[in-house]
Amino acid sequence: MQRLSFALSRHVLLRKRILASCKRPAAFMSTLLINQPQYAWLKDLGLKEENEGVYNGIWGGRGEIVTTYCPANAEPIASVRQASLEDYEETIKKAKEAWKIWADVPAPKRGEIVRQIGDALRKKIKDLGSLVSLEMGKIFIEGVGEVQEYIDICDYAVGLSRMIGGLVLPSERPGHALIEQWNPVGLVGIITAFNFPVAVYGWNNAIAMICGNACLWKGAPTTSLISVAVTKIVAKVLEDNKVPGAVCSLICGGADIGTAMARDERVDLLSFTGSTKVGKQVALMVQERFGRSLLELGGNNAIVVFEDADLNLVIPSALFAAVGTAGQRCTTARRLFLHESIHDEVVEKLAKAYAQIRIGNPLDSTTLYGPLHTKEAVTMFLDAVEQAKQQGGSVVYGGKVLNRPGNYVEPAIVTGLPHNASIVHTETFAPILYVLKFKTEEEGFAWNNEVKQGLSSSIFTRDLGRIFRWLGPKGSDCGVVNVNIPTSGAEIGGAFGGEKHTGGGRESGSDSWKLYMRRSTCTINYTKDLPLAQGIKFQ
Ligand code: UN1
Repeated sequence: MQRLSFALSRHVLLRKRILASCKRPAAFMSTLLINQPQYAWLKDLGLKEENEGVYNGIWGGRGEIVTTYCPANAEPIASVRQASLEDYEETIKKAKEAWKIWADVPAPKRGEIVRQIGDALRKKIKDLGSLVSLEMGKIFIEGVGEVQEYIDICDYAVGLSRMIGGLVLPSERPGHALIEQWNPVGLVGIITAFNFPVAVYGWNNAIAMICGNACLWKGAPTTSLISVAVTKIVAKVLEDNKVPGAVCSLICGGADIGTAMARDERVDLLSFTGSTKVGKQVALMVQERFGRSLLELGGNNAIVVFEDADLNLVIPSALFAAVGTAGQRCTTARRLFLHESIHDEVVEKLAKAYAQIRIGNPLDSTTLYGPLHTKEAVTMFLDAVEQAKQQGGSVVYGGKVLNRPGNYVEPAIVTGLPHNASIVHTETFAPILYVLKFKTEEEGFAWNNEVKQGLSSSIFTRDLGRIFRWLGPKGSDCGVVNVNIPTSGAEIGGAFGGEKHTGGGRESGSDSWKLYMRRSTCTINYTKDLPLAQGIKFQ
């Protein structure tokens, strides 16, 4: 996966250098989108021309200035002053201090603060959703959907704040209680990627908070304004409730800050979402200090369509999964396996559906498909299409750059490649769908599982036996295993994450909260005798 959450992309670095090295000319400031009347709502989110990118109870930031650009028109939006390593040091100390207060707040009262965060997000959902659209480039309804996901996980976490608890187990010794006690881990570092700049922070933040942890967030540099706007909403709730703001600290920054977090023993859990390549570096740094990490890394998700599938479900599902968010979800469908008996029909119908996608400005309510996030992503897309051709694929739809401002490409459908072609096994974070023909269930299931990643997977079938084989030990080896729905668009109520090179982490619902806590097994003797376990007599 090519998400640039950790390392700064080349063009951002270049712009950063240029911008940092010169006094900002008035002409540059006047061209910022934030100064144009149609983007006046950015100011309702508390944003300015130049924003502070560090929050630890007070706002600051002494690092470099990063200007972010709108992927739909390549115009500068506004800028954020990032954290220096001194800011990092100060912030982590304040977050650790804040934790001491937060850990003493009863869990249901912590839940009440999270409830208020959810309500504050509700009030700003349209503006924040629009900012996601403007800065990340996804369509407005998906930008709003991300904020909705944060709101939903807040609601979920409020309930959870009255439900988390440990087991009481039968002790083999008379007069002994054997119980599990769950405590917060302490400080949770959260590194998120550009593609879900609100929701992924939300999943981590709401659950970590009710568990009694303080949070330290580093978003992607290219979505710095979103990180600032979200933190302004959260900070106000904390401050209104006289909770130390450092409970939800923000530290905008690049690889230097990410590395500092990974190496820092004071970060008790590091939740990282991003590429498998960077995730591996992070995991090794954290493991080196015997720390804990929660990894949400790359996916190479497949949809397997059997001969008995309902094609009325298959076409819109494949379209949403492959083209939605312009192919930039970790759950995006990248491989479509079609039973040989329906292959040609589905390819034809799918190409027709692709031709009807409304491409346009992501902020227009009718647009279904927007730009890629960066220019680098456009280059990666073109390279991958080229490689697919070289490896024997036919581009039956799209595959070109669109002649308009911004990072727009035509989503591509590629047929005719072998299931194990190296490009099919590579996650290119762009809208390219490899469509392959299969004959048997064994083939379909095996091809789904043969890639390194193990995030999401779907089959389309009406065969009950096949459905349960898919869910069983010899079925899909992914963390998300679907039937008759797309690979993307998971709900917050389930545990979200994947196996193998996807990193093994689980976030969001179900019992994912356990990863944000440490478990103590407690045995309490309430007698005057001292029986030992396993019947051992030691006298
Ligand atoms: C991601 O792309 O990092 O299931 C997360 C989905 C979303 C989450 C995607 N709810 O597609």
